[in-house]
Amino acid sequence: MAYDVTAVRAHFPALGEGAAHFDGPGGSQVPQPVAEAVAGALRAAVSNRGAETAAERRADGIVTEARQAMADLLGATPGGIVFGRSMTQLTYDMARALAKEWGPGDEVVVTTLDHDANIRPWVHAAEARGVTVRRADFDPESGELDVDTIAHLLGGRTRLVAVTAASNLLGSRPDIPAIAERVHAAGALLYVDGVHLTPHSLIDVGRLGADFYACSPYKFLGPHLGVLAADPGLLESVHPDKLLPATDAVPERFELGTLPYELLAGTTAAVDFLAGLVPGEGTRRERLEGSMAALEEHERVLLGRLDAGLAEIAGVTFYGAASRARTPTTLFSVDHVRSADAYRFLAERGVNAPAGSFYALECSRRLGLGDTGAVRAGIAPYTDESDVDRLLKGVQELAGKAARPEPA
Ligand SMILES: Cc1ncc(COP(=O)(O)O)c(C=O)c1O
Repeated sequence: MAYDVTAVRAHFPALGEGAAHFDGPGGSQVPQPVAEAVAGALRAAVSNRGAETAAERRADGIVTEARQAMADLLGATPGGIVFGRSMTQLTYDMARALAKEWGPGDEVVVTTLDHDANIRPWVHAAEARGVTVRRADFDPESGELDVDTIAHLLGGRTRLVAVTAASNLLGSRPDIPAIAERVHAAGALLYVDGVHLTPHSLIDVGRLGADFYACSPYKFLGPHLGVLAADPGLLESVHPDKLLPATDAVPERFELGTLPYELLAGTTAAVDFLAGLVPGEGTRRERLEGSMAALEEHERVLLGRLDAGLAEIAGVTFYGAASRARTPTTLFSVDHVRSADAYRFLAERGVNAPAGSFYALECSRRLGLGDTGAVRAGIAPYTDESDVDRLLKGVQELAGKAARPEPA
């Protein structure tokens, strides 16, 4: 079924403010049903989870529904869905919990392609236990991370490999199933950062081979929180610090304190919205299959238009346009223009395309972009051709000005 971007856009009140949003990789805009679900949960009687009162049952229902929705989105098991404040928090917590079983001589592998949220928690946990950290380096020319680069770092003492499913800076997508095969053959666990990939592709954690898969609903039209998916049996074997009266059941044992019920209601609404991006029949998972395929095609076409347009502008440099697979995210700079100034120039023209390293700090440094990075343009479900054309017009104007500097 064809993707009707005009119909999709009509659901986003924020677009009424008029900006062209290329800031989706930082956080997407939210459709009306998500905002209503959050508000609805706050308006209704809700208390702690339980079975005695309607308010308790409502809280319980919200949690159960959100676990099911995330399981449908990720091809995961509802009993293995953990909610937290953010992917960063969940990853720090899981790193500390897993590291309880690690000791000197053990090793973990991180990559220079990753967002710092999938590097630093492992580095800190490793430091605390005397564990060695190994770094898999991506190719700064292509932006790709080779499976063999990771495989060469694996050994008998490797406990865990942390790798991104897609770079939030470059969009490049490492071959996770192939990496998983090598990691598992070495007897290690694979922790996959799915924050940047989940908004753009239908995920099947089993097919990916991820032991842990982390993502953030606020990147796929939902509210601000984090989600970690894992096999419930694996979660049973991990023992985080927790309060004495708090349940030891899985997945609740990982969810410190009271869950944000209103945000969970919004998360379910976001998954339902994604499932309904194009009309379809069947289970929610089946509808997600159809709608995510249509979304991927929509975003692919717009990325092609964006990349081709940028390539025609003299003075634009692209970074790491991976050929293997890429999300609709482009990183570029304009000759003689500081990226922060390009960002401001575009923002003044109603085009939101921020500049930075976006916390993929090691990646930015490896690309030779230091800590300031470059301009990132990400395509989202609500992006249309006119947005792309506005961005291209802005970059053209900027590049033209930079090529003809005003006399001093
Ligand atoms: C690839 C990637 N990983 C991790 C994160 C951190 O996510 P959170 O804000 O939920 O901690 C981000 C946020 O930008 C990201 O893009």
